[in-house]
Amino acid sequence: MAVRKAIIPAAGLGTRFLPATKASPKEIIPLVDKPAIQYVVEEAVAAGIEEIILVTARGKQALEDHFDRAPELEAILEARGKRDELGEVRRLAEFVTLIAVRQKQALGLGHAVLVAKDLVGDEPFAVLLGDDIIDPAPGHASGLGQLIALFEQRREPIIALQEVPDDELRHYGVIRGEPLGDDLWRIHDLVEKPEPALAPSRLAVVGRYVLPPEIFTILEETRFDAHGEIQLTEGLRSLARLRPLNGYCVHGRRYDTGNKLGYLIATVELGLKHPQLGAPFRAHLEAHLKAGGKGR
Ligand code: UTP
Repeated sequence: MAVRKAIIPAAGLGTRFLPATKASPKEIIPLVDKPAIQYVVEEAVAAGIEEIILVTARGKQALEDHFDRAPELEAILEARGKRDELGEVRRLAEFVTLIAVRQKQALGLGHAVLVAKDLVGDEPFAVLLGDDIIDPAPGHASGLGQLIALFEQRREPIIALQEVPDDELRHYGVIRGEPLGDDLWRIHDLVEKPEPALAPSRLAVVGRYVLPPEIFTILEETRFDAHGEIQLTEGLRSLARLRPLNGYCVHGRRYDTGNKLGYLIATVELGLKHPQLGAPFRAHLEAHLKAGGKGR
């Protein structure tokens, strides 16, 4: 069965990005010229997803509104002859079916996925984290597109991996696995946020997954951790014990826009690649740095 549905969990509290995230969802904060969540939704659509289930929370209405019609704004743009802007605003409301569901309390990523259970039903589905952006390497499909292609070949659940430096391992779920060749791994176990000395590898899980519906039953049986959260990593550990679970080192640059430094790096790198803004932005940065950071 094709992967038609994707869950985008975006109900987290965003504490690493305070105070910016006190009243605005981190996923709505713009990266260059569009919100982070738009990159993620566009990636899902490019990978063939037909229905997106956005997991939101109180105070995160802006995320749904961003993909809804905006009649007053459209009328003003039309009256002012702003055709390009009008086209873009309309496109956003039309290019995908988006259903929002609320996670009433931020009880962890596993819990956020579980909230979408009834909307997914009995079919394989994708998960894309709302604050994780993957800019694919030239000549490669989108991050999720790479995973779905492998899922369709092998019919086995698969999650995205990235090699990370030792000092960053404690921020990730890290796999213990064996290589299957061509950047593909069979996952035997996962460890959440290990100390570098205890990490079973340097391969960390990043925010793209293609999962079978049985993960819902597994998550329902997964216990809350010491922080009162249901972790997706725990669910994946159980899944790996029941059936083959694969990991793939996706080809591309991945940005964690949920922390301040990751967000700054993404803004600069994506800004430098922007078709219109890239060249003047590069010229500005070069002049600014040449002037010792004192102007341009
Ligand atoms: P994070 O690990 O970034 O957690 O979640 P967070 O709570 O959003 O942010 P910090 O750690 O407090 O700064 C990864 C993704 O999972 C979603 C987040 O919105 C983010 O897209 N998430 C996390 C939920 O939807 N619900 C949760 O309970 C936790």
